[in-house]
Order: sequence, then C-alpha cells, then structure tokens
Amino acid sequence: MGYIETNVDEKTTDLSRARQSLIEELQAIMWYDERISATKNKALREVLMHNRDDEKEHAMLLLEWMRRNDVPLNKKIKEILGKSKDLSKLWD
Ligand SMILES: [Fe+2]
Repeated sequence: MGYIETNVDEKTTDLSRARQSLIEELQAIMWYDERISATKNKALREVLMHNRDDEKEHAMLLLEWMRRNDVPLNKKIKEILGKSKDLSKLWD
C-alpha cells in the first residue's frame, strides 16, 4: 500500500488499509469473473463462482467497517444506496 505522506494518524492509516483492501477484493472479483467467463470446465467454473461470491462478502464487510468509521461516507451511503430513484436524481 503506497502512502504519499509519512506522518499519518492511526485513524487515517486504518481507513487507508480498509480502502486498499476493498480495492483488492474488487480486483479479485474482476479476475474471478474473467476466469469464469473463460473456462470451459463446469466444475472449475462452479468453484470460481463460489470463490468470487466469497470475495463479494469480504468487500461488503470492508465497506461496512468503512461506513462505521467514515462519517461522510456513511452519510452518502444513506443518501444513495438502496434507493429506487433514477441515478441522475441521486447526486447533488
Ligand atoms: Fe477476499
């Protein structure tokens, strides 16, 4: 994980750890999707699909931790996630 500053408080460092971990979970989901799409082996596809969906759980656990520890993010999540309005109606 690359930092651009060295004098960073613990809260910021932990948020960076969570955000970087979320990036890595999303990357893993992308890679699994590509492999699922590419393989012709049904049994392997099923294992990869299971593993990909586990990564989604990991990603959501990180997002939940971030929601609990990043007040502005929590506000945006409440404003945007789970709403049925047209997306164009959800930004400021
Ligand atoms: Fe994971």
